[in-house]
Amino acid sequence: MLSPEAKCSFCRREAVARIAYAKLLLCEEHYIEYIRNKVRRTILRYNLANRGDKILLAVSGGKDSLTLLDIMYALSQEMRFSVAVLHIDLGIEGYSEQLKHSVESHTQKLGVPLITLSLRDILGVTLPQLSKRSRRPPCSVCGIVKRYLMNACAIESGATAVATGHTADDVIAYAIKSFILQDYSSLSKLVPKTKALQGAISRIRPLYEVYERETLLYSVLKRLPFHHGMCPYVVRNSLERHVKRFFNQIEELFPSTKISFLRRLAKHAETLTPVETERKSIRTCDVCGLIASDHKCSFCKVTESAVGMPLGREVRDYISSMVKEIWS
Ligand code: AMP
Ligand code: FES
Ligand code: ZN
Ligand code: ZN
Repeated sequence: MLSPEAKCSFCRREAVARIAYAKLLLCEEHYIEYIRNKVRRTILRYNLANRGDKILLAVSGGKDSLTLLDIMYALSQEMRFSVAVLHIDLGIEGYSEQLKHSVESHTQKLGVPLITLSLRDILGVTLPQLSKRSRRPPCSVCGIVKRYLMNACAIESGATAVATGHTADDVIAYAIKSFILQDYSSLSKLVPKTKALQGAISRIRPLYEVYERETLLYSVLKRLPFHHGMCPYVVRNSLERHVKRFFNQIEELFPSTKISFLRRLAKHAETLTPVETERKSIRTCDVCGLIASDHKCSFCKVTESAVGMPLGREVRDYISSMVKEIWS
């Protein structure tokens, strides 16, 4: 908590935030500007977006991706790229409805085009049903489905990249987990921008250097209609959570540790996987033509085990019919 005597380093109004790594105290207005500038600098530093690009924003309705939407919308006007929003309705009872409402409310306010893909409409089943039928844990099926739909929607709509709301804390948690598991191939993908490959669009992470605490304060100050609830399938005692807590303690003691870690990761990550290994493991799915590590992609495998048929091709056609003229 800041004392009422704490004043903004720029305008001397009452400060609402202390940015320890930048040695700044900020009032509401300058805090919002500071976070937006930080995302702009990240875009420029890692070349995430250029004039004329078409960026598909993956927005769940939580605080991170609503912050992503809010800031990318503002920057799209200034930096002259286009944005559209993709929301995936997983059909999780008592959870998905509220998320969808949050996304609809903020996209409408900003006037950004919105594509909502509902699992119930696309596959005839919700995420919990898909998980049960394919006998895989909900979070694993969820990851496969979301990655596939983001990629397919970007390709079918002619987007130049998909942007996700992963924060600095998310990337660090995945990085430490990958390191513990000695999974260098996953570690090498934790960069601000992944390359486009055959059957896969480039993915960007504009919040790469923004801390989770910062997106929370940004969302509260800007009164973004984010959904506070947690997915009923979330694992409360996960390794990622402990890593996040640990890194927050380290950051308190040594401000800017998280940013330095990420900048080094961004610089070295792609050299962690030998090119040969990477080349061998990349191919396209025989059914749908999108990226796969086998003759069938994970999405075609999951849908085949759940409904008896690999549905990638049909889903791509369905999305294609939905996204016409989304950028106009
Ligand atoms: P998560 O894997 O749930 O931590 O989410 C990581 C990022 O994926 C979010 O910041 C969003 O950009 C995107 N995302 C997650 N869930 C959805 C969803 N239901 N619809 C669209 N994008 C999503
Ligand atoms: Fe994917 Fe909870 S949001 S399983
Ligand atoms: Zn100020
Ligand atoms: Zn496929």
